[in-house]
Amino acid sequence: MPATDSPTLTPAAPAQANSEPNRYVLCHIPSNADFTQLSNKFDGREMLVELLREIIADSQDEFVPPLFSRNSTTQSNLIENLENTGDAYVCAVASQENILFLHNDKIVGVLSYIKDTNQFPNLFKPENAYLTTVIVDKDYRRKRIAQTMYQAFEQLNKRGNLYTRTWSKNDSHIKLLLKRGYAEVHRIADDRGKGIDTVYYGKETK
Ligand SMILES: CC(C)(COP(=O)(O)OP(=O)(O)OC[C@H]1O[C@@H](n2cnc3c(N)ncnc32)[C@H](O)[C@@H]1OP(=O)(O)O)[C@@H](O)C(=O)NCCC(=O)NCCS
Repeated sequence: MPATDSPTLTPAAPAQANSEPNRYVLCHIPSNADFTQLSNKFDGREMLVELLREIIADSQDEFVPPLFSRNSTTQSNLIENLENTGDAYVCAVASQENILFLHNDKIVGVLSYIKDTNQFPNLFKPENAYLTTVIVDKDYRRKRIAQTMYQAFEQLNKRGNLYTRTWSKNDSHIKLLLKRGYAEVHRIADDRGKGIDTVYYGKETK
């Protein structure tokens, strides 16, 4: 598994005397990854789907609307669809570019993105990277894991235009975006319910 960067994290808790040591790994799994070349932990796209499902399932209902109610990572109509099971969302994430933060082989952070999308031609400049999903496991938050994954995302796409979207009440993500120099590029009022806007943020280099 190709490591992209070395995380500088303080372990969440000291290792127990009889447990394995804390091991943190930051890695990039490209959308066209050849899984035969990767470690036995990720021995196929299906294994990745199952590992991603765990972290997405734990946090999906913090999102507005919940991730499992969506048809894809990029849908325009953000109305909750209760008939969806989560498969569509998880499989879409697994097929994208993924930056993973692992603690002793458990995925505790995922940042997923699409390169060069033309889904929003009037909004995104060419040569873009569209971050569709970022999640940090609840037990690992406020330890700079999202910052570390964003840093890797920006490093991997440093000559491109970077975009993401969130909802207007997501204070934690918005604080993080502003701190990293992203600016609002588009807003759709009441898109996710009364008083809940969809807000697109961008960090444009060209
Ligand atoms: C948003 C999220 C990814 C942040 O992950 P994290 O690893 O805890 O974030 P970091 O520790 O790297 O924090 C970076 C900065 O973000 C901001 N931030 C993060 N969580 C915050 C919170 N709960 N309240 C206020 N600011 C917060 C702060 O500015 C923080 O910097 P600081 O710790 O120096 O003050 C995480 O809270 C999460 O997974 N939330 C649920 C999923 C979600 O909302 N994803 C984005 C959807 S579009």
